[in-house]
Amino acid sequence: MALNIKPLAKNVGLEVSGINLDMPLDVDTRKALQDAFMLAGILLFRRAATSSEAHLSLSRCFGELQRHPVRENWAAGYPELVDISYRPSLQGDSTVALYEVDGKRRGGWLPWHSDLRYMSKINRGGILRSIKRPSEGGRTGFVDQIAAYATLPEPLRQRIDKLHVVYQLRSDFTQEKFGKPKSLKLIDNAAALKSMAARIDQDFPPVVHPMAYVQPETGRKVLNVSPTSAIGIYEMQNSEGEALLEEIISYTLNPALAYYHDWQENDLVLWDNWRTLHCAEGVPEDCVREMQRTTIAGDYALGRRLSEFETRG
Ligand SMILES: [Fe+2]
Repeated sequence: MALNIKPLAKNVGLEVSGINLDMPLDVDTRKALQDAFMLAGILLFRRAATSSEAHLSLSRCFGELQRHPVRENWAAGYPELVDISYRPSLQGDSTVALYEVDGKRRGGWLPWHSDLRYMSKINRGGILRSIKRPSEGGRTGFVDQIAAYATLPEPLRQRIDKLHVVYQLRSDFTQEKFGKPKSLKLIDNAAALKSMAARIDQDFPPVVHPMAYVQPETGRKVLNVSPTSAIGIYEMQNSEGEALLEEIISYTLNPALAYYHDWQENDLVLWDNWRTLHCAEGVPEDCVREMQRTTIAGDYALGRRLSEFETRG
């Protein structure tokens, strides 16, 4: 089988085929995958891994893995795999939440975000693997923020060049300021967020990240804004910062830049968490969807915690 790499969708990602993930990958194949990852930021491996071991071994090609801080989220027997399944039977004790989104109940729904954006240190990436496909819905959306930056008009690029976004974790997505659907109601929160809600402000103080940065390996600019967790612009008063964030997010969430992956069982998608956003459309309340995720460690070293003496604006 020869390794084959081709475009996945307009503006987003590459699809890799001709690879057997149940066998150890040779040095040349690993290098080709790492180069493709740097080029595109999102790689799809269709129906390529039938075991947790293959999922873990592919993930290790792209860096060391980190364990999720909440032990209850670990997949049984695999501390480096996070179980992000939605099962109606687990209501009240699930790793994912149930929301009503524009009038429809959706288990496992997530707005556009990059992972751990509310921390100063952001993980390198992750690989999702589909284990049980739901009978309806369950797609994951991806946006490449290098492609998004390329759509910004020059005056807007110059305006954001030296600015920083302030982020803070909220206990549920109805409290987010940006990127929300028209109507959003929380029905049942993820178990970990329920237990953390009372101490969330204390344990997760605000952080700041630059609005744009240069990818060091390629010199390309990345639009570094996650709608979820954003609360304002560090250098601006609230109303001015919010207006600029709304404008920037309208470029990021341009439907022409998004790819929605419709999962088959054993598909894997790798994403670069430093240059892409993702979202989950969720599944109807009575559907089962089984998914697991690895977390690839790293730090792009551009984020910092806001000190208690700093105020915005
Ligand atoms: Fe995520």
